Amino acid sequence: MSHALRFARPDEFPDTDAIPVHVISADGADAALAQLGAALRQWAVTHGFSGALGKTCLLPNEAGGVAAVLLGVGTSADRIRKRFAAGAAISDLPKGLYEVASASLEGHPQNLREEIALGYLLAGYRFDRYRKKSGREAALVALAGIDAPHFERLAQAEAMVRDLVNTPAQDMGPEELEGAARELAARYNAKISVILGDDLLAQNFPMIHAVGRASPRAPRLIDMTWGEGGPQITLVGKGVCFDTGGLNLKPGSSMGTMKKDMGGAANVLGLAQMIMDAGLKLRLRVLIPAVENAVDGSAFRPSDILTARNGMTVEINNTDAEGRLVLADALALGAEGAPDLMISMATLTGAARVAVGPDLAPFYTDDEGLAAQITAKSPDQFDPVWRMPFHAPYEAMIEPGIADLDNAPSGGMAGSITAALFLRRFTQGAARYCHFDIFAWQQSDAPARPKGGLGQGIRALYAVLSEGV
Ligand code: BES
Ligand code: ZN
Ligand code: ZN
Repeated sequence: MSHALRFARPDEFPDTDAIPVHVISADGADAALAQLGAALRQWAVTHGFSGALGKTCLLPNEAGGVAAVLLGVGTSADRIRKRFAAGAAISDLPKGLYEVASASLEGHPQNLREEIALGYLLAGYRFDRYRKKSGREAALVALAGIDAPHFERLAQAEAMVRDLVNTPAQDMGPEELEGAARELAARYNAKISVILGDDLLAQNFPMIHAVGRASPRAPRLIDMTWGEGGPQITLVGKGVCFDTGGLNLKPGSSMGTMKKDMGGAANVLGLAQMIMDAGLKLRLRVLIPAVENAVDGSAFRPSDILTARNGMTVEINNTDAEGRLVLADALALGAEGAPDLMISMATLTGAARVAVGPDLAPFYTDDEGLAAQITAKSPDQFDPVWRMPFHAPYEAMIEPGIADLDNAPSGGMAGSITAALFLRRFTQGAARYCHFDIFAWQQSDAPARPKGGLGQGIRALYAVLSEGV
């Protein structure tokens, strides 16, 4: 589906000299232009080049070709506001082979070259399953001083996340999501097993079954394991392939993007791909409850009381709060394996968007060290996250009275926190737990992030896991 997101290999361009790209900041533009000959300096001035972020200026040679490219990288504040703009500008250059001039990177922060590398790679992403699109024409040599395979690994995992989220539910139901997990498992020699349909009842996953049973596309629990030795890390991803809201039907305006309700599953698969591709020394388990929250006569109802895998009873006050139900059973299974760390990722609540908007990935953990590590890695991974509290006084909001738990507290306050508290009830046995309430979606085109599916939190998590947990 997606184009190979990688740097130019030397043997692909025999006898071709790469065109140098000069990185120029806003405050370094005058000095940089002064180094050009008078004619080229005037050319840059005529074209209004001032080092502004993401602006390029092609310098001509005598044959009418391109001698060099000036690339504006603005100020570091500009780059925080608009990440990946510089790398994406290289991706948009005309057909040719380019190389960032190392000398022009001196004096810039180290992470600029990494941002350019990742921005360039990610800007090559196209979702072209349903409409052919031309790929980029600018090929870039890997920047000096970066670990090129590492950045290609990040970009390829991100492309898979986007493809999975962008594919409409018609072609990305529980079965197809299982297919994607199986493909990944086969590629990295992981083991995979799936509990399907009524077997979910026989094997005690009542809430996954209840949420998914109204769809003709059978619910299932995907269980993938990989790796020997090292800490055990269990990733759990919400795989609601389409969320109609169930009988508490969503209005059309909210249902429109609900093909992305398997964004948590897509993200944990992306993180798993990074881990396996890099061969990190850990024991990985990935659990994905894959269901469609649909409507028919067998649908679960508001006021039904379900019994979860761990024996807790849950009163259904809104069938649209389905994610926490399917995750609860999967988390309970994960916790039974006593992992060193369990991480859930889910497009769980609209409230998370109200709290922090689409760009920040809110996360919850009781582990101060882990929280600090994730927060510390976030900026250099260009992966914005924000810690949220497991605020214990709100536990009362998820305890309605006639059952142990309520899946949809009334009042609508602290919706992301109460959902996270709900999930935490199912994690006893895991040494540490961390939950991400993600959006998994880019609302309008931005550099290296076209409108559509988006990975969130996984580069920051990968950076933490790479250093050992
Ligand atoms: N999948 C939605 C949450 C969602 C909506 C995520 C929009 C991202 C964008 C989830 O299943 C849901 O509908 N949650 C409800 C819970 C409520 C009924 C307690 C919500 O957030 O409104
Ligand atoms: Zn829902
Ligand atoms: Zn949902």
